Amino acid sequence: MPKDPQIFRAKKQAGEPIVMLTCYDFPTAQLEDAAGVDIIFVGDSVGTNMLGYAAETEVTMADMLHHTRAVRRGVERAYLLADLPYRAYETPQLALENAHLLLAAGADGVKLEGGVDQAPIVAALVADGIAVCGHIGFTPQTLGTKGRIQGKTLEQGQVIVRAAQAMERAGAFLLVMELVTEPISRLITEQLTIPTIGIGSGRYCDGQVLVVTDLLGLSTFERKLNKRYENLHERVGTAMSQYVQEVRERQFPTEANAFQNISEEEVTQLRAWVQRGMPDE
Ligand code: KIV
Repeated sequence: MPKDPQIFRAKKQAGEPIVMLTCYDFPTAQLEDAAGVDIIFVGDSVGTNMLGYAAETEVTMADMLHHTRAVRRGVERAYLLADLPYRAYETPQLALENAHLLLAAGADGVKLEGGVDQAPIVAALVADGIAVCGHIGFTPQTLGTKGRIQGKTLEQGQVIVRAAQAMERAGAFLLVMELVTEPISRLITEQLTIPTIGIGSGRYCDGQVLVVTDLLGLSTFERKLNKRYENLHERVGTAMSQYVQEVRERQFPTEANAFQNISEEEVTQLRAWVQRGMPDE
């Protein structure tokens, strides 16, 4: 039974920030759930961050289903949101089929990218009882992999504000805004009754989302929108080099890692049997 997304509207009304974080696997899902993340999000950024793809456009429904199932196994408390990947929602019918597959894989709701043009797709999903999160501003599925700031002029601002309102009117319960200038994301957050979640969109959104591999410092590139809370790239690299060295120098495993659950007498008998050429006895 999908979780009720209306809790997030209540959080907006109460002025309580909503915490969202991407997630692609079971152990990370368990950690995020225990840390108190509100929305655990299987983003199509799984492609570039976990699968070695060059762009979001390579991500398939099969990829999204595989990772959504893995994350579902690790989430007990949080809301689980999953991305509809590129070309998975080109028509209302296709969007419905794929959204239902993501729900069957364990998602509580789905996210899709796009502005005014995508409103009919959102409306069709919502009419079928599916909780939908919109995603406006910079949209990697159509704008490529290089982040570009959105909302730098009055005209761009009008496009983004219209997109936000179209998403709310179509029935979206949440709106992600990526790389939108802070004054525009602030205006939209004030205008909408649904909560906004920012990534690189400044301080005034109702919540924030980051890519978990960026937050943990597993990825190596620097992004202005990110804050690295750990440097896993360095720490994991150091741990692996140490393991390589210790195996090569026979420092691992030690006696403490080994199992001795056979008597010396039986080992002596076994050695003698091997020396006799292992006869059938
Ligand atoms: O897939 C993703 O990581 C996203 C970000 C905006 C959070 O959509």
